[in-house]
Amino acid sequence: MNYAAVLAGLPDAVIAVDADLRVVFWNAAAEVLMERSARRAEGRFLKELCPPDASLVRRLAETLATGESRSEPEGTIERGEGRRVPVSLVTAPLFARAGSVEGGVAVLRDLSRIRQLEAEVRRGETLAAAGRMAVGLAHEIRNPLGAIRGAVQLLSRELAAQPKLREYTDVLLTEVDRVNRSIEMLLDLARPVQLRPVPLNLHQLVERVALMHEEAARARRVAIVRRYDPSLPPILGDEDRLLQVFHNLVRNALDAMKDGGHLTLTTRVSLNPLFGKMDLGAGSRNMVEAQVADEGPGIPAEARARLFDPFFTTKDKGLGLGLAICHRILEEHRGAIQVESAEGRGTVVTCFLPIAK
Ligand SMILES: Nc1ncnc2c1ncn2[C@@H]1O[C@H](COP(=O)(O)OP(=O)(O)O)[C@@H](O)[C@H]1O
Ligand SMILES: [Mg+2]
Repeated sequence: MNYAAVLAGLPDAVIAVDADLRVVFWNAAAEVLMERSARRAEGRFLKELCPPDASLVRRLAETLATGESRSEPEGTIERGEGRRVPVSLVTAPLFARAGSVEGGVAVLRDLSRIRQLEAEVRRGETLAAAGRMAVGLAHEIRNPLGAIRGAVQLLSRELAAQPKLREYTDVLLTEVDRVNRSIEMLLDLARPVQLRPVPLNLHQLVERVALMHEEAARARRVAIVRRYDPSLPPILGDEDRLLQVFHNLVRNALDAMKDGGHLTLTTRVSLNPLFGKMDLGAGSRNMVEAQVADEGPGIPAEARARLFDPFFTTKDKGLGLGLAICHRILEEHRGAIQVESAEGRGTVVTCFLPIAK
């Protein structure tokens, strides 16, 4: 049996040190995890390779001192530029024939994939819980809301001759409609939708959204710029759902530009290495990009990680469901959505959609 080959084939990182904490063995998985080749690790002190207070160094030192095994299920290791990787860690002593400790071995398992999956699952659970609540709430709120709306409309008619009082009823109607829309959005996240994809002209679709927001844009001194690729082929999509997507994205872009600027709508055939071609189940298909770009303040790094979480919002009257819904809809289309943003330099949201064959 070739033990070196066995160790090389292990998915877990195996690192052995001598009594001075000098690396004597470093398997292939350790090379990947620590981003350092065995050639550049073996023979060096562990403290040169990671910070002296790192779990790996501490636990191995304890094992050497006590001759006992140590484990840390929730440790971290630090890679270049201070990037932390979650790992589980077990150490064991290596005994010399005389019984003294002549070294130690550590086995590390990279937990980042698992952590990512856990985050996805949590997101799914939040969505599911939101969905159940939404359905319950919708019935409780929608019916009385309908009654309120009807009564306000009657009132408004009675007050036709008194414009001052009509203003109040107008406010009531606007706000009732806003609550209604919020409920609709929650329900959108909750209900399993049956997508009805047909070949669509993306430009007509985006243009409808642009027209819908023209008024709001003018009020904010925002100029809407169109950069449509005239040779763009039809896409395969569900019109109502995609209108919702672009409606949300344009709304966000306008919200971000308090002091005017350009809102640029771009379409093109995608050359993106990651999302330019997608598998729709029956072979891969080319994708097109529809982009909504703004010149707002951009999105800070800590917010960027949470953009698609339901209920994540930084707005007073925000619901935080817009991007979660966009994500869901593009997923249903077997497309993708990507947000690029740098603080102070605006935000570009790109939707990838399949071309209709
Ligand atoms: N174009 C943008 N520029 C800056 N921030 C944005 C932009 N789009 C989204 N965001 C951030 O993402 C958050 C979530 O957006 P969204 O899901 O649409 O919910 P909402 O618009 O209700 O807040 C916003 O509150 C905002 O902080
Ligand atoms: Mg929004």
